[in-house]
Amino acid sequence: PLAPLIAPSILSADLARLGEDVERVLAAGADIVHFDVMDNHYVPNLTFGPAVAAALRKYGITAPLDVHLMVEPVDALAQEFAKAGATYITFHPEATRHVDRSLQAIRDAGCKPGLVFNPATPLDILNYVLDKVDMILLMSVNPGFGGQSFLPSALSKLADARAIIDSSGRDIRLEIDGGVKIDNIAEIAAAGADTFVAGSAIFNSKDYAATIRAMREAIAG
Ligand code: DX5
Ligand code: ZN
Repeated sequence: PLAPLIAPSILSADLARLGEDVERVLAAGADIVHFDVMDNHYVPNLTFGPAVAAALRKYGITAPLDVHLMVEPVDALAQEFAKAGATYITFHPEATRHVDRSLQAIRDAGCKPGLVFNPATPLDILNYVLDKVDMILLMSVNPGFGGQSFLPSALSKLADARAIIDSSGRDIRLEIDGGVKIDNIAEIAAAGADTFVAGSAIFNSKDYAATIRAMREAIAG
């Protein structure tokens, strides 16, 4: 299995001091930066675009940028995020007309592509594109907002995705996003996740390092 990664979602960061807050959370032990892109169309909320990703790179953030696109359409923005310095770029399959082409375009742009599954979206499509994804992201809330509660249905879905990944023999990351906290991260890890998005749980805590450390200890069991 791949080493676990803690991915703070900057949706819950101090947006007026974004560079400093991202630096702080990385210094506190975070592994990758989860970057939630919302367009008020695919989801009912609006966040930030490629200019903000480029600004974080210019500021000196060198950690992997995990760009979660909640936008429709996908392709043009994905290319802009590749230019802006994204590492992973994941999108929701229902938000693009040609999923295979969108995945390939992200890889051709030098990034690691992935697919995101909403709570009620089946994993079937993976049968046809598993060789093209470096990450599978399962939503454990309906996308659009931080601070929602973890949907327990995500646990059996994680187990299904874990089985699919293991049978592929490829190093595909299995990421979980929504309502991840210190007190549920152990069962989420046990269900098969190896990459853990946490927004409010980290950024609303006083001591980022203590929160991240507690998460790692719970994952290790
Ligand atoms: C929701 C976003 C999540 C969100 C998670 O659409 O994709 O990344 O920020 O926030 P928490 O950890 O607060 O549920
Ligand atoms: Zn996200």
